[in-house]
Amino acid sequence: MKKREPDRILIVDDDPHMRSALTLSLKKTGREGDIFASAEEALKFLDELDGKAADGGYFLILSDLSLPGMDGISLLSEIRKRGAFKLIPFVIITAYGTVESAVSAMKSGAADYLLKPFGISDFERIVKNAEKISAYNNCPSLAGSDDESGFVCESGAMKKIDDYVKIIAEADATVLITGESGTGKEVIARRIHSLSKRKGKFIGVNCSAIVPTLLESELFGHEKGAFTGAVSLKKGKFEQADGGTILLDEIAEMDKNLQAKILRVLQEKTIDRVGGDEPVSVNARVIAATNKDIEKTVEEGSFREDLFYRLNVIHIYLPPLRERKEDVVPLAKYFTALYSKKYFREISGITVQGQDYLLSLNFPGNIRELENIIERAVILAQKDNYLDVKHFGVFAPSVLSAGRNGDAIRTKEEKTRNKTEEGGINSIPAGSNSSPVDFPVGGTLKIKEMEEKLIAAALKESSGNRTKAAEKLGITSRTLRNKLKEFKLGKD
Ligand SMILES: Nc1ncnc2c1ncn2[C@@H]1O[C@H](COP(=O)(O)OP(=O)(O)OP(=O)(O)O)[C@@H](O)[C@H]1O
Ligand SMILES: [Mg+2]
Repeated sequence: MKKREPDRILIVDDDPHMRSALTLSLKKTGREGDIFASAEEALKFLDELDGKAADGGYFLILSDLSLPGMDGISLLSEIRKRGAFKLIPFVIITAYGTVESAVSAMKSGAADYLLKPFGISDFERIVKNAEKISAYNNCPSLAGSDDESGFVCESGAMKKIDDYVKIIAEADATVLITGESGTGKEVIARRIHSLSKRKGKFIGVNCSAIVPTLLESELFGHEKGAFTGAVSLKKGKFEQADGGTILLDEIAEMDKNLQAKILRVLQEKTIDRVGGDEPVSVNARVIAATNKDIEKTVEEGSFREDLFYRLNVIHIYLPPLRERKEDVVPLAKYFTALYSKKYFREISGITVQGQDYLLSLNFPGNIRELENIIERAVILAQKDNYLDVKHFGVFAPSVLSAGRNGDAIRTKEEKTRNKTEEGGINSIPAGSNSSPVDFPVGGTLKIKEMEEKLIAAALKESSGNRTKAAEKLGITSRTLRNKLKEFKLGKD
């Protein structure tokens, strides 16, 4: 007999009014489901189903975030532990002011979020999105098949580095990659490996994340009985990377004893397992990375000079993102596509204003920070087809305080040119779905002030029409009314 397609929704909400609203939403959209007042009750019900080898036929679990006992996030993690239900899309219901919790819920595995108060069209949109996710999760040929090994390289500085990477990839020489945190050191190390002819694995080890006593056996492995708990022989990372590449990340944090042992591996191409008496030969290309000024650590005596010279045969320095702004927009577009796919959003690109805004940021956390901003923006842009200033600005205070980088801002002439030249899938002309707010992104601008400016600009753009302004801002008319009262903007 053919298995029935999942068609039911499981709902958890402690508020009786919300439960009635949700019952009505189910009815209006022709859906069926089961509603529970607490996470505990819902879990008990699911466990009973599991005991009977039944699955309940759910394609969506919809739960309020704040519940009196176990909250929505804990319910999500409990359900993820239960094999029978772990693939069901889980959507968090949350209030407007707690949207940041919705962002972190999605980062920890929720499929989407529904903002309170919601209309029937919001409910329908969330349900339809969950249907897509459920179909995707249940299709083995699609799920887990993503190859996201994208490498973005647009700026002159990065192109030069990449040309160099292509040349040195085939050599076996040791490489030292330096650069601030989040500049892409691991990405470059992986690229060197994938462009080389090495058939073995790429193995990364973060030398600062493991205590020195354990790091030695992690790197070199141990023999059976080498120490209490060494119940069997274990191959270390060097042996796992045999025929491939090993990345020694955060190398400057490595303890001096171990530095001497690494030097020996580089000189003799053999390792000694902890407790072993025979050296084992390994053929792993070594790449080391650090965000520290390693020459300074050599001068200060905490890093061995001879090891530094051994590692530094080829040196690649990755400049911070603020010094290669031509990469910002291409990276932002790449992350937009990546996260739209991950979160099942239909986002086609970034508005011209959004791009300019990103270009005005300093990114102290480099590419990782840009990636976080875009991931959050994609999550927040539930209904919008283009990412815009409103999706970035209000929620990125750390980056805003970095200040405006004058030379990164495009001139008026360039903007006009971009409108016609950039076209394509990732750009739309200013004004289509964008908010032409001129943001004074200075060190002193507070989130509240930004909100106020955004609201004032949206009202101006909508000629004072509040419904249109609320729509532009992606908030409900009621929230806009409250904000207007708060900021004493207009009469109410
Ligand atoms: N050229 C690139 N194209 C696409 N994504 C990139 C690129 N460079 C970096 N990234 C992304 O930016 C993030 C940070 O990169 P990575 O982890 O390589 O930085 P890192 O320099 O090793 O940082 P840390 O010093 O904190 O370890 C990753 O998610 C990575 O995928
Ligand atoms: Mg790294």
